[in-house]
Amino acid sequence: MKDYNRILVTAALPYANGPVHIGHLAGCYLPADIYVRYQRAQKRDVKFIGGSDEHGVPITIRAMKEGITPQQVVDKYHAMIKESFEEMGISFDIYSRTSHAIHHQTASDFFRKLYDDGLFEEKETEQYYDEKAKTFLADRYIVGTCPICGNPNAYGDQCERCGSSLSPEILVNPRSTLSDAVPVKRKTKHWYFPLQQYENWLKEWILEGHKEWKNNVYGQCKSWLDNGLQSRAMTRDSNWGIKVPLPDAEGKVLYVWFDAPIGYISATKELTEQWADYWCKEDTKLVHFIGKDNIVFHCIIFPAMLKAHGKFVLPDNVPANEFLNIEGDKVSTSRNWAVWVHDYVKDFPGCVDTLRYVLCANAPETKDNDFTWKEFQERNNSELVAIFGNFVNRTFVLMHKLCNGKVPPLHNEILDDFDKSLIEEIGSSKDKVESLIEQYKFREALFEVIDLSRKGNKYLQDKEPWKKVPGGEAKSISPEDQKQIDNCLHLCLQLTANLAILINPFLPTTARKMLHLMKVVDKMLEWSNAGKLKLLSVGYSLRPPELLFRKIEDTEITAQVEKLKAGLIVPNAENGSKTPAMQTAEKEENENKAAPEKSQIQYDDFAKLDLRVGTILSAEKVEKADKLLKLQIDMGSEKRTVVSGIALHFKPEEILGRQVIVVANLAPRKMRGIESNGMILMAEDKEGKLIFVHPQEQIEPGSKVS
Ligand code: MF3
Ligand code: ZN
Repeated sequence: MKDYNRILVTAALPYANGPVHIGHLAGCYLPADIYVRYQRAQKRDVKFIGGSDEHGVPITIRAMKEGITPQQVVDKYHAMIKESFEEMGISFDIYSRTSHAIHHQTASDFFRKLYDDGLFEEKETEQYYDEKAKTFLADRYIVGTCPICGNPNAYGDQCERCGSSLSPEILVNPRSTLSDAVPVKRKTKHWYFPLQQYENWLKEWILEGHKEWKNNVYGQCKSWLDNGLQSRAMTRDSNWGIKVPLPDAEGKVLYVWFDAPIGYISATKELTEQWADYWCKEDTKLVHFIGKDNIVFHCIIFPAMLKAHGKFVLPDNVPANEFLNIEGDKVSTSRNWAVWVHDYVKDFPGCVDTLRYVLCANAPETKDNDFTWKEFQERNNSELVAIFGNFVNRTFVLMHKLCNGKVPPLHNEILDDFDKSLIEEIGSSKDKVESLIEQYKFREALFEVIDLSRKGNKYLQDKEPWKKVPGGEAKSISPEDQKQIDNCLHLCLQLTANLAILINPFLPTTARKMLHLMKVVDKMLEWSNAGKLKLLSVGYSLRPPELLFRKIEDTEITAQVEKLKAGLIVPNAENGSKTPAMQTAEKEENENKAAPEKSQIQYDDFAKLDLRVGTILSAEKVEKADKLLKLQIDMGSEKRTVVSGIALHFKPEEILGRQVIVVANLAPRKMRGIESNGMILMAEDKEGKLIFVHPQEQIEPGSKVS
């Protein structure tokens, strides 16, 4: 292993196009923070770099959707994201933004250096252009009728209805999603970075040189490299981004994935005059924390750029996490299926460490994982409260009751086997936790700490110091028994001090609360103190007990699950004639909040519908389909089974006896093996909440609606 003299830790720069959710935290910010806090406690020279990624299509799309400028978008979300990170204790040394002048300069210089060294290929290609919006269009921004199935809203690269791969040329009536104009072909020139020239070097460097990288990371790199690399355009036609620093490059900006990672360098420059030590000296350990969707950029493209530039160090490791799902479903900002960090801190004040704990205990380190509110509650109540918190609390309560609120002495001459094995556990825990953190195995490291507190509880249970008090009166304890009690609580207190040190990288607020209880200063948390027994001096008086964690109640959990479900936006089946720009925006980010308008129809079209009043006779959940309810509906002359996608909005028992409007002549359809005969009408508000459409007054089931 190489010897390092300084560590540079980066966490992916999030796009400033929306707030952060807990998936972001679990993916890279929390592990990076744990790692950095641990390194700081080791007194190592470490810098933690973060910032907002403020360029690229994700920003311009958001601007279009919100009807504001890209600048307004990044200003708004940069502030929100920064605040959320602060609230969660993500302890960046700097949280910068790629809109800063220093970054524009650094990224331009980087580009210019590669250009001056003759490393780019200049290529002219024909691309679609929107003459109204005066901009080139990616295939995704062109819609038209699918030549295969007739879907009027197929995309330039793919038809969502029939699944065919398309190209813009073969769409019937192609139009730009930005302006509705008919796109025309235009020549455009871009600068390509010839990744294939770095292929052999990358194979050597990663596949041979970094076999220790996590399997998911190594595997993705291998498959990219096995498939062969190609030149990639490092510029784009756009007016949002960093201008290409060349004379004939009007309307061209750097590709966002060219500029954003350079943002790590710019932010380091902003942070310290010694930035070049971190970026250019071989004895720096550079570690990129990212989510799995960023692997190719951080392991292949950026390192190739750094290598081409020649002046910079390469990452030593890229510990990417997989994704965190929520309640069994993929996180989707579009459908609003996410737990937002700013909501969490409002709903659970003082519980930052609970979320940090659950996200670390359940981190998607090797595979996608699922976050559920139930598990959140269970881990809080049965691990933090019942094990870790309980041990510290019992120790303090007993120490006040049996030792006058002071650290009792240790009588070495009477140590028994329980004491000795606890002393051994304390001594060995440091190495275990340390080695796991160094290997980026944060879950296991955390479990090791919790396990140590579990051993503390077991020790108390074995020693039962409270039993040595006849009639519960501390005064009447015999000197022999007092010695036993002293030893037990002395060790429990030293263990408490150790737990504070070991838990500190994970739960920094909790560690500070423990310092407060023990009346010691921050310095005690230095990692080199872990494993030691003499952290608290004999005779020192400590504060009365205070609980470290509170219980999370069932009602809080139900409220969160309901909030999540009520916030869910159910996409409409037909997107009608929503403005094309909106459709693309939805497509890119999948945001589908406003109901689309549909195109005009004739009376005859309407008359085809057989609408009738029905009464719900029974309702039940459909197994393994959390959105579906199976309804029995009285239609007057008959009873019908209708399967309806309303289960997230209504409980079965709430809707019994309700009158509804049924589309009675809808062709039968099987859903989850149940034949559905008809459909009930619902209104939807702009939050996506469903409301029944029903007759004003009670009326015979089967009555016609027209
Ligand atoms: N903004 C990107 C994303 O959210 C991450 C950029 S990381 C950086 O996926 F390296 F480019 F900065
Ligand atoms: Zn099609």
